[in-house]
Amino acid sequence: MSASPPPAAPDPAPVLGADGTLPQGDTKRVAVEAMFDRVAPGYDRMNRIISLGLDRRWRRTAVAALALNPGARVLDLACGTGDFSRDLAAARYRPVGADFSAGMLAATRTATPLVRADATALPVPDAAFDAIVCGFALRNFVDLETVFRESARVVHSGGRIAALDAAVPDRALLRAGNTIWFRGAVPLLGRLLSRDPDAYRYLPASTAYLPPAARLLDLLRSVGFVDTHHVTMTGGSVQLLTGTRA
Ligand SMILES: C[S@@+](CC[C@H](N)C(=O)[O-])C[C@H]1O[C@@H](n2cnc3c(N)ncnc32)[C@H](O)[C@@H]1O
Repeated sequence: MSASPPPAAPDPAPVLGADGTLPQGDTKRVAVEAMFDRVAPGYDRMNRIISLGLDRRWRRTAVAALALNPGARVLDLACGTGDFSRDLAAARYRPVGADFSAGMLAATRTATPLVRADATALPVPDAAFDAIVCGFALRNFVDLETVFRESARVVHSGGRIAALDAAVPDRALLRAGNTIWFRGAVPLLGRLLSRDPDAYRYLPASTAYLPPAARLLDLLRSVGFVDTHHVTMTGGSVQLLTGTRA
């Protein structure tokens, strides 16, 4: 008599509800960490495919926007596999990476010092850095205001912030192309190539979680950054926020 296989165990921390909604609060934090642990081994390859190789250019633009002296200490917040850290080192800055996913940190290919930490509670003294960068992580945070406040705490007066993330283009034609790519092609590629297909349905859903540019700038100013700017790249599909610590 052959026994039928037991039903698959439910994902302990699904990053999307069955109806495609995002989890909230601590449930989101746990789900996001578990998702990045799962996707870490194939993360860099999927990143290059999804961004059509443009992600490197976006990070280099953000690094250039810091405009610091060589040797400046820069925190790469939510560093993932360390792409930003490599660009920072190439610009002759001294990066330190921080991320809460042990899987992502284990997959880094960088000589940068790394620390496992949550962005809301960094094990770093006040004003320890000349700048902070954050690549494609804003939409993953549960509480952006707390993360920005913590970012302001660890950067000294006159220091810089540069945060990159996905965005939705304003212009209808570009928005349609963006929707076809991120809501059609990317989830399909995720199903074919990733060990966690849900992660690539989560991506467009999480972009919608981000507040509009004006609100992001307000938040940055409310925690102590001045001279704040918001620019978009690649037809509005990527945004870069910058500011200077008051
Ligand atoms: C899309 S990846 C981006 C990685 C890298 N910055 C890049 O540019 O490729 C988002 C990263 O944010 C990290 N992350 C999300 N929430 C976090 C939190 N609360 N504290 C620390 N890291 C977090 C994830 O573990 C993941 O490595």
